[in-house]
Amino acid sequence: MTQWYDVIAGVYDHFSQRHYKQPRKVLVDRLDLKSGDNVLHIGCGTGLSFSLIIDKIGPDGTLIGLDVSQKMLAQAEKKISKHGWQNVHLLHADARELSAELLKDHLGQDMTIDHAVGELSFSVMPDWRLVMENALGLIKDGGKFGVLDGYRAKKDWINSALNFLPQSNISRPISDYLCELTQECRVQTFGRYKIIFVAIGTKAQNLSNDDMI
Ligand SMILES: C[S@@+](CC[C@H](N)C(=O)[O-])C[C@H]1O[C@@H](n2cnc3c(N)ncnc32)[C@H](O)[C@@H]1O
Repeated sequence: MTQWYDVIAGVYDHFSQRHYKQPRKVLVDRLDLKSGDNVLHIGCGTGLSFSLIIDKIGPDGTLIGLDVSQKMLAQAEKKISKHGWQNVHLLHADARELSAELLKDHLGQDMTIDHAVGELSFSVMPDWRLVMENALGLIKDGGKFGVLDGYRAKKDWINSALNFLPQSNISRPISDYLCELTQECRVQTFGRYKIIFVAIGTKAQNLSNDDMI
């Protein structure tokens, strides 16, 4: 998988930028990001949504983009240099290794993760359920977890064609799983075949004993 994205990194934006403009915007808008928020972007690739996120979190927020492909991250780095963003940290790692220690080692400090996103990445990466569980564990209570991806249960030619270029598996029930893990989960589909979706859930608040009286 790393190798595939290393190969297509240079042309990735050309194929991907236009198609997902609307769902990317819907995803970022529905996260209700505030100035100063810290956002974890899992499988961030070339950073096609970075500017949308940075517009919301401002210079006081932090965006951590994690990806296993060095070449995709190199494209993201170009966007960072071009815009002069000082608050984006790129983390070259396999999402299956995601943990508080990994983030601390990279950032040099503990950081509260307010929200997490995964765009077109959970249909690609192995052990996606485990990665989603680990990511949710890192988000603060009440934080949002947003996913943009594709889903088509039917394993027909449309399914095969859509999986071909990104080497994905859009038969995975990603939005269902996100909604199992989170609260107040909302899913919106896009396009004629309703394959592209944006799903956003909220991490449950940990109730203290006082809250339960
Ligand atoms: C289809 S691209 C999506 C990139 C970007 N999120 C976007 O929306 O344009 C999938 C990304 O997931 C990354 N990826 C795949 N497996 C991964 C893993 N195990 N850990 C981290 N990133 C991974 C790939 O390197 C690639 O950049």
